[in-house]
Order: sequence, then structure tokens, then C-alpha cells
Amino acid sequence: MKTVNAGILGIGNVGTGTYRTLQLNREKILESTGIDLRITKILNRHPEKDRGIAIDKSVYVQDVDSIIKDPNIDIVVELIGGIEPATTYMAEAIKNGKHVVTANKAALAANGEMLQKLATENHVMLRFEASVGGGIPIINALTSALLSNDFTEVLGILNGTTNYILTKMTDFQQKYADVLKEAQAKGFAEADPTSDVEGIDVANKLSILMSLIFGVNVPPEEIPTQGITNINQVDIDYANRFGCKIKLLAAAKKIGDKVECDVQPALIDVNHPLASVNNEFNAIFVRGNAVDDIMFYGKGAGPLPTGSAVVGDMISIARNIDKDSAYDMKPLLRYDSDLEYVGEGVNQYYVRLSVDDRPGILGNISSTLGRYGIGIESMMQSIQSRNEDESVPLVFIFYETSREVLDEALQEITNRSFVKSVDSVIRVQK
Ligand code: HSE
Repeated sequence: MKTVNAGILGIGNVGTGTYRTLQLNREKILESTGIDLRITKILNRHPEKDRGIAIDKSVYVQDVDSIIKDPNIDIVVELIGGIEPATTYMAEAIKNGKHVVTANKAALAANGEMLQKLATENHVMLRFEASVGGGIPIINALTSALLSNDFTEVLGILNGTTNYILTKMTDFQQKYADVLKEAQAKGFAEADPTSDVEGIDVANKLSILMSLIFGVNVPPEEIPTQGITNINQVDIDYANRFGCKIKLLAAAKKIGDKVECDVQPALIDVNHPLASVNNEFNAIFVRGNAVDDIMFYGKGAGPLPTGSAVVGDMISIARNIDKDSAYDMKPLLRYDSDLEYVGEGVNQYYVRLSVDDRPGILGNISSTLGRYGIGIESMMQSIQSRNEDESVPLVFIFYETSREVLDEALQEITNRSFVKSVDSVIRVQK
């Protein structure tokens, strides 16, 4: 029997989920791997706080160095979240010869290249399965079972909190703020949920996926990103009438030597497999040139599903320590391709306007759109939902256009006196 010792930095939702996963399954892991995986120290700056689980308090330490410099610790598990001080702690741990497991997508998206290089130089493993898709083993799949493929596309629901909110707004007409509180209470949300609801968390995850499948380093702040804070019941209901749901989607596509990508809410046909991914579940659809289309589905947030991925990485490192395998020292993150990153490509769009209810207005709008090369796939005018100022909603689904051309056309249309407002512009996923 081999004993492998780990120290955990941070004991919030993911930290407690990791501890509980190991508590639940330590015996089983020992039986199947012959490895006794132990958590010997936990960095906990607030030991007085009730974490809702029984942890032997003697493992708590308040000084990070006592973990990252402990000669008896083999693996440092970073579960603090946020870019700093997490990046510095991971870098120091690596320099001290520790293998590192992290769930931290923000730190990886910002500093993955530096951390990966440091890990390679110091002959240690950097593993981060829990950083994308919670319990879904997408990183293992992409970097192992699917290595035989050249990938052309990834499309996914990558945030449990926002998917939970959109599901409850769609299926039960619940209010955004109430559902956000529920998601926080269930331990899905980040410490500051702004990063969930504004799409930043998803942009971080997409940046990591693009490194894995395309070998590009696209900083999350350069990914066109929009969250769900502007999504309201009116648009959810219109989407339903068009046979669609609204989901927060991450999309990246390789076209020739270019990569397009974006993170934004989108209407998606109810028959698309991603439309039935509900609550805190995530799903990641990938297209490879050998495997063709493949989709991964599972819980993308929550202490235990995320703990499952963290402990999986710890076991995989422990096994490699046990058999002293050089293969798994190979970097997972890649930044070696010449693909050019070009931002958001052409898409179909859903647009809701409020306009005066007079003859000729629809014709005027459609001929302006025509001048910009924008065609109309569907249109709906609902006089039952007349606004207080007597204007009526005009709702369109346009054929493919670029966002820049659409914005120019809408700017021109907005200047007409009969247009009261452009109320919504949402991408349509085909
Ligand atoms: N806050 C994230 C989510 C947790 O809601 O998906 C997993 O990264």
C-alpha cells in the first residue's frame, strides 16, 4: 500500500465537497488502487466557521507555507478560487516540487501558460478537471480518449448557476433574483456571483477548452461575452412561441486557419440536445474529425460533483507517483497553434422592437434591413401585448449576419420616430 498526502488550500463549497468525496470513498479508492490518499492539512483562515461537515480540526493551518513547503505533502489542491493569491500559491507549490490540482478556471485562464511551463520545468503534474464542467470528465476525455481527433467545434452550457436560473425562469416563471439566491444556497455560484451571471465564468472555461482543443491562448477578456442579466420573462415567452429555449452558450469554431468564439445567451430549438439540459447540469458538445459529434453531460456545479473531479485528479496523480510514470508529466494545456483568433462570427439573431402600430412601418423596417443584406426568417407582432404607450412589440428572427452589420442596421432603424425602442437582441443557435 502506498500513502499519498495532500494539502488543501481553501475549504469553501468545493473544498468541503472534495473532503466529503474522499470521506465517502477512501476505502473504495484504497481497494481499487492500493493507494491510501490522505488530506493531512487544510488552509482555513476562518476555523471558527461551521463548514457543515465533520473535519478533524487538527488538520487546519493558517499559514500557506506550512502546506506548500511541507516535505510530507505530495499534492497541493488549490480550491481558493480567484486569480490571486491562488496563482502565486500554485506557482510556489510547483517550485517546491508539489503536484498541483485546481478547480480554478479564472487563474488558469489568466495564467495557465505560465503555470503549465513552470510545472513542466519542475517535473510535476498540473491537473484541473474540475475547472470546466464540474463533475464532467471533459478534460480527461479531450486530452486522452479523444486525442486521435482534430477538433473543429465546441458548443456548451458551462455554468450551473445561470442554467439553474434560466431553467426556473422558463419552467416555473420564477423571478431572477429569487432563483439566484437558491443557486447560491445550493453551493453552485462563485463567491461573487457576478462572474456567473455576467458570463465571465463561462468565458474562463471556454478559454481553457480552446487551449485544449485548438492550442490557442485566447484571454477570456477578448472573448465577446454577455451574461443573462438582461434576459427577461418576455423574451423567454417569445422564444417559447418560436419553439426555442434561451440558454447561456459558449461557442468556438475553427474555420480554415481562424477561430471564432463567443459567450452569450442564445435561442436554441427545443429539439436540440442542449435545450433539454436543465438546472445545474452542464453539457459540452464537441465535433472531432474522427469521432464526429460527441456530447458530455453531467452536474457542472455543486460541492460533490466538483469534489468528484478534484479527487479524480488526485487519484490520477497518486497513481503516477506510485508507478513513477513520466508520460503524465506531459502538459495538458497547449499554446502552440498558429490559428488566428477573430471573435464572434456570423449568426442568426432574435430582435424585439417596440414600434408605433401604423400602416407601412413593417415595410419600412424590412426594406432598411434589406439594404444591409439582412433577411427575415420569422416575424411576430402581438397586439395582445400592446405597451402602455400604445406601441406594439415586433419580434423577428433574422437570417445569418454579423453582429456589426446588425448593430448598424438597428442604429438606423432606431433613429426613425415610429421606433420606440430596441428591447432585445439575442443570438439564435442553429
Ligand atoms: N459557479 C460555477 C457554476 C461553478 O455555477 O457553474 C462551477 O465552475
